[in-house]
Amino acid sequence: MTNRVVLGLQWGDEGKGKIVDLLSKDFDIVARCQGGANAGHTVKVGDNKFILHLIPSGILHPGKICIIGNGVVLDLFQLFKEMRDLEDRGIKVGGRIMVSGRAHLVMPYHKIIDAVMEEARGDALLGTTKRGIGPAYLDKIGRCGIQFADIFDDHVLRCKIKENFELKKHIFDRLPADQRPNIELTFETFVAKREEARALICDVAEFLDESIRGGKKILFEGAQGTLLDVDFGTYPFITSSNTTIGGVLTGLGIGCKHLGRITGIVKAYQTRVGSGPFPTELLDETGNRLREQGNEYGSTTGRPRRCGWIDLVLLKYAVRINGVDDIALMKMDVLDGLDEIKVCVGYNFFGKICDTPPQSNFHFKHVEPVYVSMPGWKKPIGGAKSFADLDANAQAYLKKIEEFTGAKISILSTGPERDQTISN
Ligand code: GDP
Ligand code: IMO
Ligand code: MG
Repeated sequence: MTNRVVLGLQWGDEGKGKIVDLLSKDFDIVARCQGGANAGHTVKVGDNKFILHLIPSGILHPGKICIIGNGVVLDLFQLFKEMRDLEDRGIKVGGRIMVSGRAHLVMPYHKIIDAVMEEARGDALLGTTKRGIGPAYLDKIGRCGIQFADIFDDHVLRCKIKENFELKKHIFDRLPADQRPNIELTFETFVAKREEARALICDVAEFLDESIRGGKKILFEGAQGTLLDVDFGTYPFITSSNTTIGGVLTGLGIGCKHLGRITGIVKAYQTRVGSGPFPTELLDETGNRLREQGNEYGSTTGRPRRCGWIDLVLLKYAVRINGVDDIALMKMDVLDGLDEIKVCVGYNFFGKICDTPPQSNFHFKHVEPVYVSMPGWKKPIGGAKSFADLDANAQAYLKKIEEFTGAKISILSTGPERDQTISN
């Protein structure tokens, strides 16, 4: 068995958490490579529900090592909170979490800037999670970011904080006096956590290299999804990291020959949180039904998710961009009981039919989906124990997805629980 990558192929919330949890038992190490606490990965274990924002979903399996790579933007205080919450619920995390010293920190002021930027956008707001993700990556690329390793040196930390306050003065000056961040306070907040943090720091790239040489198996856990990728997503309505396959390499410092099998996670329909074009969105009763049946409310912000029919144009594109080997199709049970299910197989762009998304976001917002209609199934998906158990109409739906995208569906999720999964 080789290493394996788990990536979202839509606009996030496909069910990555469930699949990573499920697959973790066969791996030694689970590694996050990008994103930050904007992610919300839900794992259901019996009556317990865990929502993980920063810690890889492998943490629920005793003994597995969980890595936070350099490509992640690290909200250290959120990480400590998540660790405490898990410990309180009986999950031993001590010695199992390692964080790259190269990871850039989400500073308290990044969250303030995130909110200020959203407000400034007015009606054109992106609908971010307000977790400071965009501003933290902006500083990383802008070469003024503060890295995790920096907090262990008084001089470096103080200089970097000062530099940032200077660079961001024009923003901070616009804030009411009582909301303006303070250099000393920011510095002290990190110094206070330094000793606790020392146990986590690791040269992740080196550790992974040694682990691979020692025969350890790694599961790479993506956050968000392909359509939120800063390069290949629906720009500018995206997040600020590479959520696609390249993000695994740059976000952990490993060579591409170590990636192994690439599994794309796909919801049986389409959802999106926040703003941006969504060609197959359903603003009617069917959309509401999908939201209620699928409990489509954000794991991080609680916002209602926008819902619509599956978009195979975007899915085929995501399979291609990531070089996907196989698909885990999630939440098929949510489509139970529908008489008709529509599948988007093309775009009509002012009379021209396309089978790939246009590069320009301006064009993307004008495409009209071309649908084929498929009959729903009568037999509930939840009871199925194998692919052969599925109603013929459900099998036809899977076949349509496989044929259009060219990727095999190797896992079918029929409910949120671990055992509500079929695989071959
Ligand atoms: P992630 O961000 O990709 O990990 O996905 P989220 O956790 O944000 O959202 C997926 C939601 O769907 C979670 O509440 C899961 O418990 C739930 N879920 C996962 N698989 C299934 C499934 O097959 N059926 C149903 N009904 N729910 C599922
Ligand atoms: P998981 O890992 C769904 C969306 C936000 C917003 C846009 C930018 O749970 O699938 P950001 O805070 O990243 O600057 O927001 O990206 N977004 C997600 N949507 N699932 C996620 O993560 C998301 N992380 C960010 O809603 O539209
Ligand atoms: Mg989520």
